[in-house]
Amino acid sequence: MTKEKKIRPAAKGLTGAIRIPGDKSISHRSVMFSSIAKGTVRIKNFLKAADCLSTAVCMRSLGAENMFQEDGVLCVKGVGLRGLKEPACILDAGNSGTTLRLLMGILGAQPFFSVFTGDASLLRRPMGRIVEPLSRMGARICGRAGGRNLPLAVLPHEGHLAAMHYESPVASAQVKSAILLAGLYADGETTVWEPALSRDHTEKMLGAFGAKLRRSGTTAAIEPAEELYAPEEIVVPGDISSAAYWLVAASLIEGSDILLQDVGLNATRTGIIDVLRDMGARLEIGNERESGGEALADIRVRAAHLRGVSFGGAIIPRLIDEIPVLAVAALFAEGDTVISDAAELRVKETDRLQAVTDELNRLAPGAVEATEDGMIIHGGRDVSPAACHTYDDHRMAMSLAVAGAAGAGLTLDAPECVDISYPSFYNTLEGLMQ
Ligand code: S3P
Repeated sequence: MTKEKKIRPAAKGLTGAIRIPGDKSISHRSVMFSSIAKGTVRIKNFLKAADCLSTAVCMRSLGAENMFQEDGVLCVKGVGLRGLKEPACILDAGNSGTTLRLLMGILGAQPFFSVFTGDASLLRRPMGRIVEPLSRMGARICGRAGGRNLPLAVLPHEGHLAAMHYESPVASAQVKSAILLAGLYADGETTVWEPALSRDHTEKMLGAFGAKLRRSGTTAAIEPAEELYAPEEIVVPGDISSAAYWLVAASLIEGSDILLQDVGLNATRTGIIDVLRDMGARLEIGNERESGGEALADIRVRAAHLRGVSFGGAIIPRLIDEIPVLAVAALFAEGDTVISDAAELRVKETDRLQAVTDELNRLAPGAVEATEDGMIIHGGRDVSPAACHTYDDHRMAMSLAVAGAAGAGLTLDAPECVDISYPSFYNTLEGLMQ
């Protein structure tokens, strides 16, 4: 394990132009869906980070080849919707809930046996949310704690799954996607309703692969398919969840002026832009374009005086992964920020509501209060250096690094967890500080 990481205050502001690494959610889907489609696909800007590599390795274990070429492009040879093979080993999703939950939707419909496990964090996360609906469709899944936790075993299933209408208790793209993928193998139209719209990358990409999908409000419907056909090339846009650290850091640090290039701006992901603008951030969006049905643009960010805000409800799924770094923005903003309807954060890579509260309070004692489903952050307090914990959670590590750079510096234990989604994060921060 790497020794602790020191984050120094960014005395002169952040400056420069950076390209944002590929979107994690879209990278997972690009290799997974290409593997079960017909054709050979070249995936450009695939996120070469631990989470997406877990998906690539699982797909190889299931018989669909994928290989990085010298130029960094990931080349996938699809085996078709019914061409996956029984894996000879236990599938390991590592830290990645997306790998596991999406792939379970596919595996539940296969005529072979498979077993899934993951790292210590994933072993603690709730799996009943996919096991229950997939079982209703006829998938035979068993696992620890009555099937609520990993490891999970999927028994062979012959023939079609049963189509259903599912009302999901949570707005979760992983749950929605698992059911839609299972729906490809069902005996009729499968529909999923969610209480608020979660990211729709699955719907967009499966549609581009020829699946018959439609959406009405927060209900997505999919028809069973004989086959999927992949495009020859997929270009993954930059991840707004990775850009988020720079949106907040440059807004907070005096003298900053940076350009973030190729940021994905799918409307189901842009809640952070709405909230930062409400807080008074200076964000200029330019060079707007589209690639493979996904919007992208460049964003210029300059330092600004931020004010506290309140947010909750339907915006939460649109910024679910950005709440830790938005809490950092709130810590340095003037006035209070109230975040509600975010109980889902308690079942992420760690309990992010408690972790953010405990760690930001090390910098500014008493500044953050955790509530059942959110946080109250009293902004504008003095911050001092501290030794902070990352909980081995990539988004905790990067959010705390932003707090250290914007404040009085800090140290992070287990800093290498950024490799899950943004391996070059610390080098990029150093570069922007020059
Ligand atoms: C993801 C969906 C979200 C998000 C996660 C990635 C996806 O999780 O937090 O980082 O790619 O579908 P939930 O579906 O659990 O909300």
